[in-house]
Amino acid sequence: KPSKTDSLVRKNAEAELGGGQKRIDAQHAKGKLTARERIALLIDEGSFEEIGKFVMHRTRDFGLDKEHYLGDGVVTGYGTVDGRLVYVFAQDFTVFGGALSETHAEKICKLMDLAMQNGAPIIGLNDSGGARIQEGVLSLAGYADIFYRNTKASGVIPQLSAIMGPCAGGAVYSPAITDFIFMVENTSYMFVTGPNVVKTVTHETVTAEELGGASTHSTKSGVTHFACGNELACIQNIKQLLSYIPQNCEDEPPMLPYESTDESRPGLNPIIPENPNQPYDMREIIEELVDAGSFMEVHKNFAENIVVGFARIGGRSIGVVGNQPAVLAGVLDIHASTKAARFVRFCDCFNVPLLVLEDVPGFLPGTDQEWNGIITNGAKLLYAFCEATVPRVTVITRKAYGGAYDVMNSKHIGADLNYAWPSAEIAVMGASGAAEIIFKREIAEADDPQAKLQEKVLDYTEKFANPYRAAHRGYIDEVIMPEQTRQKLIRAFRMLENKVASMPKKKHGNIPL
Ligand code: COA
Repeated sequence: KPSKTDSLVRKNAEAELGGGQKRIDAQHAKGKLTARERIALLIDEGSFEEIGKFVMHRTRDFGLDKEHYLGDGVVTGYGTVDGRLVYVFAQDFTVFGGALSETHAEKICKLMDLAMQNGAPIIGLNDSGGARIQEGVLSLAGYADIFYRNTKASGVIPQLSAIMGPCAGGAVYSPAITDFIFMVENTSYMFVTGPNVVKTVTHETVTAEELGGASTHSTKSGVTHFACGNELACIQNIKQLLSYIPQNCEDEPPMLPYESTDESRPGLNPIIPENPNQPYDMREIIEELVDAGSFMEVHKNFAENIVVGFARIGGRSIGVVGNQPAVLAGVLDIHASTKAARFVRFCDCFNVPLLVLEDVPGFLPGTDQEWNGIITNGAKLLYAFCEATVPRVTVITRKAYGGAYDVMNSKHIGADLNYAWPSAEIAVMGASGAAEIIFKREIAEADDPQAKLQEKVLDYTEKFANPYRAAHRGYIDEVIMPEQTRQKLIRAFRMLENKVASMPKKKHGNIPL
């Protein structure tokens, strides 16, 4: 008869084997790691403490009374990443395809409760065939228990989701509520209904990868924020993201030590082209402004007409939002607005100061945009900036036209410091459009309408295509040389570090959805 300690050793070994070696081999053959291997990559060596290792399901139907696996398809626990506490759950595809049972959900909920009570991020590594089909509504109840906690935890602790295999049906809605979704290219997919159902209902033929793979969701739908080349890259991205953000909404983002040197960046001076209609890449400006190599772009391949991401400036973590003149001239459209709004709201939830780099010719015109609700969607970005109480600094590099000027973190909606470069044009619209409208009759009646138009365009350009009207009013705090910008920003964010601002008491706002 084995001793009591022997049986503990045996049980531990059994739990660690999940669904057995054959299924582990099958997982590896698909190019995927196991739940425990993923946790080992994520969590600092030796720091992982598992919770609920011997939990088993309670189902008796469909022969499941004879099939039990210790842990029930999900590994849950806590540990540290770069020395900071995190909670992590990893679904184990080798046990019933990682399918979610009542007890599997209970383990995740227990972890979420701990994470919330103790104020540390929770990271979910998803790899699951969905609801445990043999359990019926018990499994659905389990999902709902998780969704409810995801929503309560939203804005309290950071919640990160990695999709490292299937994630289909109701399962998608937990990641969807979390703050960031990471997907692995070629081995993960997310959809509400799979290719077979799609075929039956809409007669479309589509593969799982086309329907809901990482590249689809990182370019077309924007559901995922990061498409990662492989699982290791995915985990590294999670760790990097954690380095910019605090543990919870009452904590501050970690500050890196920084020694001030020569902060002048003459490389910024020649970036803006002479011709105001010529594009340039806003990323070049970001790279020059922030601490070397610190920019981590979010939603890189989705709504590329706006660039968002985390960076450091003088060691301090910031969120950057920049119009991208290299794509669609940097206009705001539906996707750009929702992408940036969600990012701004994340930063505001978690005390990450915001830097806005502005070069925006306005909102994208057209029936497609109007009929799909550019009004409501553009309003999301406006609302997100208006309600943000974190330190907020804007630099207008070139165009700041029309309503988009107001939206892009203008002084009027609560920005703390607004800078403009000499190349800034702050006006209701571009000079030629403006001249055509306000001098319509004069131009039509002129002997040489074309010459008249040119004259009026020049006139309007001189009056408005500059930052000085706005600076006279104090809407711009200072007009600065591009090369001075980094120095100004380091000082500005330091000056603003103790900012106290609050919104009126309310239950919650009603952002236009
Ligand atoms: N409930 C219970 N068991 C499930 C399951 C689920 N939802 N999904 C998968 N499994 C089990 C399979 O029976 C199989 O068990 P086995 O190892 O004892 O043979 C194991 O998980 C692996 O599944 P398999 O189908 O062999 O893997 P695959 O990589 O070929 O396919 C899926 C993965 C997810 C595409 C496929 O399993 C599937 O379609 N599952 C059902 C999805 C679903 O409709 N979920 C319910 C709605 S949310």
